[in-house]
Amino acid sequence: MSYLSRTFAALAAALALLAACSAQAADTSAADQLARWTAQAPTPANAERGRVFFTARHGAEWSCASCHGNPPTNQGKHASTGKTIAPLAPAFNPKAFTDTARVDKWFRRNCNEVLSRECSAQEKADVLAYLASLRP
Ligand code: HEC
Repeated sequence: MSYLSRTFAALAAALALLAACSAQAADTSAADQLARWTAQAPTPANAERGRVFFTARHGAEWSCASCHGNPPTNQGKHASTGKTIAPLAPAFNPKAFTDTARVDKWFRRNCNEVLSRECSAQEKADVLAYLASLRP
């Protein structure tokens, strides 16, 4: 292989890797996620219901706001580990709700933590509507 074609091959590989990373990191948006859960929910998303859900303790020690803050427009702090958490409201964090696998993983984990079950599509739609309503 000539020097030039080797350089080109390395460049092409780097570009492919970059494309793969960015595709994985940004395969969705808060608007897409809102549409996704709204389509599965029995009633339209409701931001006020989402706010109440987000700030309520559902019989357990923590609410969503315990870690994400109330309102979740600033950096949150993990209720037990103290680790900082990026703002959850998308207008304050361009990375929030941009990766489907990540959104699903954290919804599953955090809903189990707070509700001892998964959140319903309605609850997720309401939370998304609430988060989307928070503006600088
Ligand atoms: C015990 C602490 C804790 C509680 C309680 C909690 N979360 Fe989280 N949540 C986290 C952490 C940690 C992350 C990862 C954030 C990071 O890496 O910056 C996260 C991330 C998320 C994400 C992913 C956002 C994204 O796209 O980056 C969603 C959605 C989410 N939480 C929703 C909720 C909801 C809804 C509740 C309430 C049912 C809740 N969380 C309660 C700790 C918590």
